[in-house]
Amino acid sequence: MKQQISFDYQLFTNAEELNIKFQELLLSSKSAVKISYAPYSHFHVGAAILLSNGEIVRGGNQENASFPAGICAERVALSVASSLYPAEKVVAIAIAYLNPEVGESQQDILSPCGICRQSILETADRQQGDIQVLLSSPSGKIILIDSAHHLLPLAFSSSNL
Ligand code: THU
Repeated sequence: MKQQISFDYQLFTNAEELNIKFQELLLSSKSAVKISYAPYSHFHVGAAILLSNGEIVRGGNQENASFPAGICAERVALSVASSLYPAEKVVAIAIAYLNPEVGESQQDILSPCGICRQSILETADRQQGDIQVLLSSPSGKIILIDSAHHLLPLAFSSSNL
């Protein structure tokens, strides 16, 4: 029997179409690009997390001369959130980036890598609350996805163990 998985998302071309908190979250993710340490790839990623108490925490990708030791911005931000605010839920994660080697107008949306999707879902499961995902491009495109589950259909989780 044929089955299909699809999902709706919202596309914005102007940040002012977002609610005020999400505008702040978007700006925080863009500012987090500056705390990225990416001397090897020169691909600077920033992530910002909105917590249930209204706080926003940030992370930037942290690379290492031993390449596999590097960590993505999303997982840095998730670690900051659960370390500093273990009792708060992650409401939303915003992801931004800048690749100085490519013109801004040519840079499309960055969507989290597979490992980060798995980590975001672990957080959602752990807090028993879904997480919204706000993606943006240096060219000004913005995508809002209401559920992190959409980004990893048929996911592996602790329920499989
Ligand atoms: N990176 C992130 O920080 N997040 C992603 O979702 C994709 C990739 C980082 C990892 C590495 O430091 C650089 O971008 C190039 O892959």
